[in-house]
Amino acid sequence: MWDGTMTEPLEVSAARERDEQVRGPTWVEVDLDAVERNVRRVRAWVGRAVGVFAVVKADAYGLGALPVARAALAGGASGLAVARVSEGRALRAAGIEAKILVLTGVPTEELAEAVEAELALSLADRAPLPALRVAAYRAGKRAVVHLALDTGLTRYGGDPNEIEALAEAIASDPAIRLDGLYTHFASADETDGFLEEQLARFHRVRLRLERLGHVIPHYHAANTAATLRTPAAHLDLVRLGIGLYGAGVGAADPAAPRLELAVQLRARVLRVMEVSEGTTVGYGRTFRCPGPTRLALVGAGFADGVPRALSNRGVVLIGGQRAPLVGRVSMDQCVADVTALGAVEPGDEAVFYGVQGNTSLSPDEVAQAADTNVHELFCRIGARVPRIYRRQARPDSLSTGHEASAAPWSWDRLPRVVAEPLERPLSARVEAELAS
Ligand SMILES: Cc1ncc(COP(=O)(O)O)c(C=O)c1O
Repeated sequence: MWDGTMTEPLEVSAARERDEQVRGPTWVEVDLDAVERNVRRVRAWVGRAVGVFAVVKADAYGLGALPVARAALAGGASGLAVARVSEGRALRAAGIEAKILVLTGVPTEELAEAVEAELALSLADRAPLPALRVAAYRAGKRAVVHLALDTGLTRYGGDPNEIEALAEAIASDPAIRLDGLYTHFASADETDGFLEEQLARFHRVRLRLERLGHVIPHYHAANTAATLRTPAAHLDLVRLGIGLYGAGVGAADPAAPRLELAVQLRARVLRVMEVSEGTTVGYGRTFRCPGPTRLALVGAGFADGVPRALSNRGVVLIGGQRAPLVGRVSMDQCVADVTALGAVEPGDEAVFYGVQGNTSLSPDEVAQAADTNVHELFCRIGARVPRIYRRQARPDSLSTGHEASAAPWSWDRLPRVVAEPLERPLSARVEAELAS
């Protein structure tokens, strides 16, 4: 029998709970369920034979490496990728035992820590090999490496001859195990034919290495855009970064899965101002009101991740409608013209990207208006902006994503899937290097 009480709809109670958690004028919501589902969708698209590595470098594009990594692994990611040894070690220290690949070159002084933490390393030339060998023997663990081949990005990666020489050197080195060969696309989100050209270059090198007798377990090339654009780019595993958040998809194959938006940047209206014609707004007086105007001061600025490039160009959602940003975006706040909107009150919510009522504003659209990409848009969310992680349509923690792990963790707890202990005695050459 009904007892007279009513259950709030889930989104209402979620909003209430969130309001209790949010103290400041701006916050970012990261839907970890959506991250998990996005990984599942990509796994279904690439098929069981293809692995999915979640790219969580730069603190998972500013959104919190640990919570995002956990959600991606829960969704079936087979490994993680970072850009710094420190990022990989932080994940290990928090208890992550999955494979972790460092996606760029590592300074010599960090090699020992990297091998100790069982991070797979990228190599583009032979220069780090002696130091890597020493690091492996010191740690008593085989170093695991992926060769980075440059096929046209002209960034981190060796040329075909260097990669061949590198593979030969590693093949004769018991301290180092070759686990992968990869490349990175220059324009995966464009249909200019260069992805196909880079893939062809990659396969030429792959064939040369195979003819030389090298057995390389993992070939990989695709970021999010390439993953969703063509199965030809999937190879043995895909590296999914921005797609974790349902953004940066580009020119996807019509059959590719639709991904869910997992990140929303929100703020509060701080003041509402009625001003007369001719009033100028903000630094530099770049906007002049064409008539009597109602303005809303919104509590987020470029220090929070609202690009200054949106000055007089961007929009914000207020009351489920688009309101243009007028005047310059400043460090802590910005101003929206709400003359055409219904009632707007201090405390109302403004959405820079995300969903409000029946309206949505995608981060891709915002990035385009700001003349940047979604990767930079997310990375620029300021450190002071609370990250609210949502699970099952409820915010489940208020966090900066940098919390220490609850349980103490030790390197010994790592499973021996990545690391292979090294047997001594060492070769005379390695003994000499260790002694020097
Ligand atoms: C080498 C490499 N692979 C994969 C990625 C993931 O790219 P995306 O975020 O576009 O999926 C990146 C990101 O910059 C990268 O540098």
